[in-house]
Parts: sequence; C-alpha cells; structure tokens
Amino acid sequence: SSSVLEEHSQEFKEWLASLPKAKSFHPSGIILYQEFWCPTLYLQNVISFQNHFHAHDHDIILASKPKSGTTWLKAIIFSIVNRTQITITNTPLLTKISHELVPFFEAKVYWNNEIPDLTTMSSPRLFATHVPYASLPKSIKESKCRIVYLCRNPFDTLVSLWHFGSHLCDTRSSEWTFEEFVESFCEGKEVFGPFWSHVLGYWKESIENPNKVLFIKYEDLKEDIIHQMKRLADFIGFPFSPEELKQGVVEDISKLCSMNVLKDLKVNKNGKHGFLPNKSYYRKGEVGDWVNHLNPSTLERLNKMIEEKFKDSSLIF
Ligand code: A3P
Repeated sequence: SSSVLEEHSQEFKEWLASLPKAKSFHPSGIILYQEFWCPTLYLQNVISFQNHFHAHDHDIILASKPKSGTTWLKAIIFSIVNRTQITITNTPLLTKISHELVPFFEAKVYWNNEIPDLTTMSSPRLFATHVPYASLPKSIKESKCRIVYLCRNPFDTLVSLWHFGSHLCDTRSSEWTFEEFVESFCEGKEVFGPFWSHVLGYWKESIENPNKVLFIKYEDLKEDIIHQMKRLADFIGFPFSPEELKQGVVEDISKLCSMNVLKDLKVNKNGKHGFLPNKSYYRKGEVGDWVNHLNPSTLERLNKMIEEKFKDSSLIF
C-alpha cells in the first residue's frame, strides 16, 4: 500500500519512477496516480493526506478543479463561518489571501512530508483540496463532514489555467503552444485531470448523497451570489437568520469577497503566497472569456471532448 511507501525510501523512488508522467506548465510536471494527473511536486503530500488525515464531523472541505474560482469561494466560506467573530473592517481577508485561511491539504497542510497536529484547530476546521473524490481519504467519506464542490465550465477553466500557467513558467516562450495545451486538456493530461472524471466524481456524489456534497457552479455564483450564498450557508450549517438577512449581512459578505474589492487590496496586488504572486489568482473573473481565446478548431476539439464525456450525465455547462 502507499503507506508502506511513504518514506523517501528506495522503494518509493522506484515506484515513483514507474508511474506515467506528462508535460505540464507545473515546473515539476504531472504524474498519473490513482487515475488522476497529480503535480509531481504534490504527490508525496497527497499520499500523506490520504494516510494521515482524520476528518471531524464538523469539518468543511472545499473541493475543486484548479481555476474554478477556489480563491473566491474560500473567501466566502471563511466569511460565512466566522461572521459573528469578525467584521468587514477587521477581517483577515484584508491582509491575507484566502489560501492562507482555508489551506489546501496537498499544497499546504501536508507540505513537505509534514504530519501536522490538526486536532487543536478550532471547529469548524476549513480545508480545501483539488484531489478527486475517488482519492479522498476514507475518513472524509465516512465522517459527517461536508464537502462543497465548485465547478466551472471547461472553456473558462481551460483559459484561466493557461493564463495561470504563465505565472508558473513562461508558456509563451516555451514550445508549449496553446493548441497543444488544449489537446492535453482534452486528453485529460492536466493538473488534477481528467476534467471530466474530476467533475463527474463529485457530481455523482452530490446527487447520491446531497447531504454530503454540495455542487456549486462558478457561473451560478456570478449570476446570483446572494441565493448561492444562502444555499451554501444552509448546507454548511451556518444559515443566515431572518435578522441577518434584513441587515444585509449576505450582501456585505458578497461585496467584501467580490473581485473588485479583493483584487485591489495591497495584499493581493503585491503579496506572495508560496512561490506565486497573489495577483496570479485574480485575473478577469468573468464568464465567457473563452470567446477571446478559442479559435473554431480548438473549440471544436473541446466540444467533442465534452459531448463524449458528459453525454451520459445530467450535467450541463
Ligand atoms: P480567470 O482567470 O478566468 O479570471 P482559482 O481560484 O480556482 O485558482 O480560480 C481562479 C479564477 O477565479 C480566475 O479566473 C480568477 O480571476 C477568478 N476569481 C478570483 N477571485 C474572484 C472573485 N472574487 N470573483 C470572481 N472570480 C474570481
């Protein structure tokens, strides 16, 4: 099992070397592990997460494919959960990017083979992950903790990922063309891909187990943030009271977490998180920016993939 291989043993190295690898804008490349393409840099962390994380019933876990709007939804969830202790004027969001407040298991919590003591964190503990449903630790599935899944249409996700990639490496000057990138995306060879199995894994679970997984679309957040925030608050067990609704608390949080407000904060303009500038997480934040990037042939390639992979599901983009 992977736990036997956890140390940086020779065995682990040999096993690692045997896994299929693919090109990615991620400097370390991606590696096929449990049927998803994991950034090689995060593989050890994912394994530690799988082996060591013990979910509590009150945990709230935000799951998403990269570039679905995770930074945004983290800010919203954090603000909903902590709204009685913090105000719009003293919220940590003014000085920290939301990734510091709702950490990724694979990129922060289990970073560098560390096994942190998470039992002292105050409840509810908020975490995030890009790991597909099938590969989540058993204790997440068996406990009563909640999973909020954020989904974004594949066209905008792909375009957003391409732009984000330019912060990780110089996509434009490398031999990595946009067309090649679209092709890898359609083959599923991209960070935490394939896109379809990631989305459908959580989609299926949200239908079979609606108390466990809440499926939210980026496009719905953009269209009706107030309704979606109420839905989210109900699901995670922090419903807005009639009094709060009257006072405009939902509107206040939605404004605080809006692109316009967050993007202009000093921390998000000049700050850094890990090896990336915070501003790389804020670009346009629009629905449909893909029309500016996809030519008819790349669009056709994407549409073909979507039709083929999503035809048997009730999910529509
Ligand atoms: P674009 O590149 O299309 O602009 P993630 O947070 O999962 O990495 O996703 C990043 C995407 O979410 C980027 O999309 C980014 O601009 C967008 N985004 C970040 N903050 C946002 C906000 N407050 N409101 C709407 N979109 C936001």
